[in-house]
Amino acid sequence: MSKPSKKVLIFLGPPGSGKGTQAKLVAQKFGFGHISTGDMLRALASKSNLSGEQQEAVTLMKAGQLVPDQLIYSLVFSEILQKLQSNGGVVLDGAIRNAAQAAEYQKFFENNNVGKEVLAIDIELTDAQAVARLSGRRVCQKCGVPIMPEDKREVHETDGGNFIVRPDDSEAVVKQRVTEQGNAALEPIRNFYRGLNALRGVNGNDTVDKVAEEIEKTICS
Ligand code: AP5
Repeated sequence: MSKPSKKVLIFLGPPGSGKGTQAKLVAQKFGFGHISTGDMLRALASKSNLSGEQQEAVTLMKAGQLVPDQLIYSLVFSEILQKLQSNGGVVLDGAIRNAAQAAEYQKFFENNNVGKEVLAIDIELTDAQAVARLSGRRVCQKCGVPIMPEDKREVHETDGGNFIVRPDDSEAVVKQRVTEQGNAALEPIRNFYRGLNALRGVNGNDTVDKVAEEIEKTICS
């Protein structure tokens, strides 16, 4: 089996483009660590005794808005180092949402000698297709894995979690998320990685298997 050519794989794409679905498949297949900032924030939301900063972040996330950059860095940077050490590679799932974050992450990677190990995979989908995807989605309440709209399972057999509609998948919040985090917002981030010659686009409007195949070809070439 061929291996990814880079150790830090960054998944970009509008909400609902399949970042979570594909990032988990890649991590599983190649033994890389998987980090989803969305999952981390939802885990925070389920805790009591949050600090004021954490509570504010949870409120923003539930409203479909971006949380402050500094909170993301404090959640994610040590986790990245740990995964690089224990897994030899890391898949970042939706962890970069604006150009300032892209630059700060890159500084962090360079300081930790993996600046040249970065590859950003942009899962391409229109904003309208993204909205349609999210309106049918359910996710496991325990591990966050999403299932396709036609999948009628109620309980996730792996961990016993119920499949539920995510609170930020209501119609109004989905619109807000796609407005704030859709293709227009992604363009400056894409430009950042284009500048490093580290951006690869894949067509997200195909079956999960076909998208996975294209991603594997892209990251292993
Ligand atoms: P996050 O949890 O990352 O949400 P998101 O970016 O909106 O992405 P989603 O999880 O909704 O979609 P996805 O692209 O992972 O698609 P999925 O695989 O589920 O972040 C949540 C919130 O946290 C953000 O809104 C923000 O507030 C905050 N946040 C996170 N990171 C941040 C940061 N760095 N800075 C600031 N704030 C941050 O698939 C979607 C659906 O489609 C599923 O039903 C799936 O089964 C289905 N599907 C997948 N692939 C296909 C396919 N090929 N064909 C048909 N259906 C498919």
